[in-house]
Amino acid sequence: MSPAAITDNLGTRFIGQRVIYYPRLPSTMDVAKRQAQQGATEGTVIVAGEQTAGRGRMKRGWLSPRGSIALSIILYPELAYLSSLIMVASLGVARCIEKVAGLKPEIKWPNDVLINGKKVCGILIESEVKGSRADYAIIGIGINVNLKPSDFPEIPPLATSLSHELGREVSQLDMVRCLLAEIERLYLVLPSGDAVYQEWRHNLVTLGKKVQVSSEETTLEGIAESVASDGSLLLRQSDGSLTKIVAGDVTLLS
Ligand code: BTN
Repeated sequence: MSPAAITDNLGTRFIGQRVIYYPRLPSTMDVAKRQAQQGATEGTVIVAGEQTAGRGRMKRGWLSPRGSIALSIILYPELAYLSSLIMVASLGVARCIEKVAGLKPEIKWPNDVLINGKKVCGILIESEVKGSRADYAIIGIGINVNLKPSDFPEIPPLATSLSHELGREVSQLDMVRCLLAEIERLYLVLPSGDAVYQEWRHNLVTLGKKVQVSSEETTLEGIAESVASDGSLLLRQSDGSLTKIVAGDVTLLS
């Protein structure tokens, strides 16, 4: 996968018009952060053939061997759109899995993408806020594309890959190009209303289910009643109370 192959006739306004490719690096997030701090143009994308120190949510690691997609997109959004980036990213991934691989993905709050109940993609958003503006935001996406999960004991048991679910390999190049185009499309419609929020909400497998939500401080159980337009989860607990959860990890209990 070369930067030119990603960029040629991509048809986007800015996402993916500049691509920096590394065959192997610790984490695309670190390079993207450095690039953003040096004022890289919006939409610059860092792509890695493999990562040796990939980062996940909640201070976890993320394994991205060859055969997986690891990329980070640099954006400079207005502060008001920062919380919508989880929606933009997870919907972009879900749309492309459907378009390129023909599989039926679901989104587990906040932004894991599942196929047949197993995680195939993780998304990490890192941002720096200065006053009333986001200095930068980086969308990091890791997708297990062409790999056999059982070859990697470090990959959690409830994970899968596109090739494993489909029974054949999927073009990583087509998937990356699709992601950049869809994410730009979704990002550009954010100012026009709540269409992205509504589509994300409808694709969430979590709503109406009994769940356990673990955050860094606590673990709560209840029914995932709804999501607010800022992306937070509203959890109805057995005592009738409704708790707003901004960040956490959900386990579906039913
Ligand atoms: C998760 O915990 O589910 C999020 C995983 C995010 C992994 C991606 S791979 C590309 C980018 N670089 C990283 O180090 N992490 C993100």
